[in-house]
Amino acid sequence: MTIAENKVYYVTTPIYYVNDVPHIGHAYTTVAADVVARYQRLKGREVFFLTGTDEHGQKIEKTAAARGMSARELVDEVVERFRHLWQVLNISNDDFIRTSEERHYRAVHAFFEKVRAAGKIYLGHYEDWYCVPCETFWTENQLHDGNCPECGRPAEKVKEESYFFAMSSYRQQLLDYIDEHDDFIMPKSKRNEILGFLREELRDLSISRCSFKWGIPVPDDPKHVIYVWFDALVNYLTAAGYPDDMERFNRLWPADVHLIGKDILRFHAVYWPTFLFAADLPLPRRVFAHGWWTVEGEKMSKSVGNVVDPEAVVAEYGVDGFRYFLLREVPFGLDGDFSREALKGRINSELANDLGNLLSRTVSMVKKYRGRKLPAADPDGEYYREFKLLNDEVLKAVDAAVADLAFNRMLTAIWRLVEKCNRFIDERAPWALARDESRARELDEVLYCVLESLRLLSCYLYPVMPEKAEQMALQLGQPAPMENPGAGLFAWGGLAPGESAKGRPLFPRLE
Ligand code: ME8
Ligand code: MG
Repeated sequence: MTIAENKVYYVTTPIYYVNDVPHIGHAYTTVAADVVARYQRLKGREVFFLTGTDEHGQKIEKTAAARGMSARELVDEVVERFRHLWQVLNISNDDFIRTSEERHYRAVHAFFEKVRAAGKIYLGHYEDWYCVPCETFWTENQLHDGNCPECGRPAEKVKEESYFFAMSSYRQQLLDYIDEHDDFIMPKSKRNEILGFLREELRDLSISRCSFKWGIPVPDDPKHVIYVWFDALVNYLTAAGYPDDMERFNRLWPADVHLIGKDILRFHAVYWPTFLFAADLPLPRRVFAHGWWTVEGEKMSKSVGNVVDPEAVVAEYGVDGFRYFLLREVPFGLDGDFSREALKGRINSELANDLGNLLSRTVSMVKKYRGRKLPAADPDGEYYREFKLLNDEVLKAVDAAVADLAFNRMLTAIWRLVEKCNRFIDERAPWALARDESRARELDEVLYCVLESLRLLSCYLYPVMPEKAEQMALQLGQPAPMENPGAGLFAWGGLAPGESAKGRPLFPRLE
């Protein structure tokens, strides 16, 4: 697939509901998107990374009423919790969209009108069931003993006038599209799930409600509020400039990837593409649904009281250890379990032992044997060539892993370099070389190879652990990775002449 020369790399997270405060699940998707965005920027791509909040709908209206406040007051309060968390987690989003903003009203209205002009919206009557916590319509048959099949809570009967979107007319077009675009829906298991879903008839979708007020009114018929999902999905267009700045929009859209949790796959892989068909806009290149976190083996829930507050975890374990854990622990796409024991274990073994010690022993050897001065490269050296080959392999594997959003594979590929360096130091024993004047060149070469590997590690790890990567570069006397973005950054042999700085433990051991 060729990419237009000036196409901006566009990555999104879901926009989160502000009826409740953020937890580890929200942090997960957003950190993953941040890694993708930082990696592309580091490679020299122009990036647009979007996150934000979903502020309309009956669930928000009800939560506000229960708390004795207006919906506006509720969303203005809770949105700050999300903004704050993204700061704490070093999220590098380029925009933050709120669906209650003016620009979004204009986009939703323009989009609605476009779909209506295509003859795909009609007025009818909805008479069936609705789950407010999931903001989802259900048929009587789909309910389990009157409860929502998704979350198990009671559904409510809805009987009202409603606008409908003629979704049923797009079933075959969507099937063909998925068939022709192998990695539109990822991972494969999720793609199959959607194909299975599309084996049945698609029903037209109710896209407006009259029984509450908190939302975007239907143009020309303001007693109707637009269905919160029809409103929310359009956020991806709004932030790209639709409809106000179509020139910008055309450089951004289609999104390169929508990162979502598996709970909202159908909205992104069925509803959204059919809306876009109707509006005659290209589909996002990829929708990737990741799995769900449980906590100490249990489903996270307020009633169990085990909801993990990411800010508390960061305060206890540090931001980069947490980011690393989220991406290393579970293959992206599968479910996983969060526990403090597992987090601590990885920080102590992989980050403090493998990586942190490698950096600190290298920096201290350069200080002791070379008065901090970094040795020059010897491109004909045997070790040099061996490391260069290894780095070529690692770079290839990392690129491929990021393209597949396989973050744990990305990290295991990077760890090949960490492990190689640790083994190499043990085998070459620089302390022995240092005692023998005649082996000074070999010592230089050994130190060079490890220093250059560490420089590369700071670049590879920057997307996942931006603060620690900068500290690494600083200790190595190298520019911070983002000072020289571009593909050249990852080429073996780029260590700049200079001096190592004082080494402080990168990851102090946790007791
Ligand atoms: O669905 N494990 O918002 P939301 C992993 N507003 N990820 C989890 C998770 C868990 N246990 N719990 C939640 C909405 N998530 C809509 C989206 S987009 C146009 C509108 C993450 O606040 C995961 O990314 O319920 C999931 O998709 C998202 O939070 C749902 O957030
Ligand atoms: Mg939810």
